[in-house]
Amino acid sequence: KKNGDELGKKKAAKSAISQIEDGMKVGLGTGSTVAEFVKLLSKEIKSRNLDIRAVCTSYQTKNLAIDNEIPIISYNETKSLDIGVDGADLVDENLNLLKGGGAAHLREKIMAKMTKKYSIIVDETKLCEKINEPIPIEVIPSAKNLVEKNLEELGGKPILREAEKKDGPVITDNGNFVLDCSFENLEKDKRDLEQLAKKIKETTGIVEHGLFIDLADEVHIGNKEKCYIKK
Ligand code: A5P
Repeated sequence: KKNGDELGKKKAAKSAISQIEDGMKVGLGTGSTVAEFVKLLSKEIKSRNLDIRAVCTSYQTKNLAIDNEIPIISYNETKSLDIGVDGADLVDENLNLLKGGGAAHLREKIMAKMTKKYSIIVDETKLCEKINEPIPIEVIPSAKNLVEKNLEELGGKPILREAEKKDGPVITDNGNFVLDCSFENLEKDKRDLEQLAKKIKETTGIVEHGLFIDLADEVHIGNKEKCYIKK
């Protein structure tokens, strides 16, 4: 996962905070950019005395929200969210996203689909013309071999994500494995992201992949000087 630009992340988080209003249910994504947002949100709640409830997409975000005294609700306590704020690993020209660098994309996508407005915060290093990096795919552990075989038949090269400070694979917050699957050898006409996303999803044993097609409503892009918004 890329480190990105810390100042850009802060600027993007600050820009997104202006959308927060009293009484909102807010979805909180995962990652270092969202961490900046969570800290700002906590300050905002305290200084403006806001009534906010947050749904957290990972243990990382939940722990941070608790430390910052943000009131939390679980997913099934609401049917919809007013706004969801999340980071991304890549954002393409059409505002399609690649996510899951932190293995949180399953709960992030659930959140994205529950929210009225899905607002992305990134530093400028995340922008790309076309998404052409390995796609994180969360799989049920017993389906690893089946899924690997099916992805290879689609022209992919899946690699099981290994943990850094534990022997063996990364285990997601949902108890699953992650395969990082590159498709760089696909012929050009088969690289249509939307089609690829659909095909990946058809495989039994795959819970979710990290392509977020047509979900972002707007992207706040921060660099060292400023933040601008793409819609
Ligand atoms: C988590 O799995 C990802 O989808 C994150 O949202 C993404 O990796 C962004 O993280 P950073 O803000 O740390 O780059």
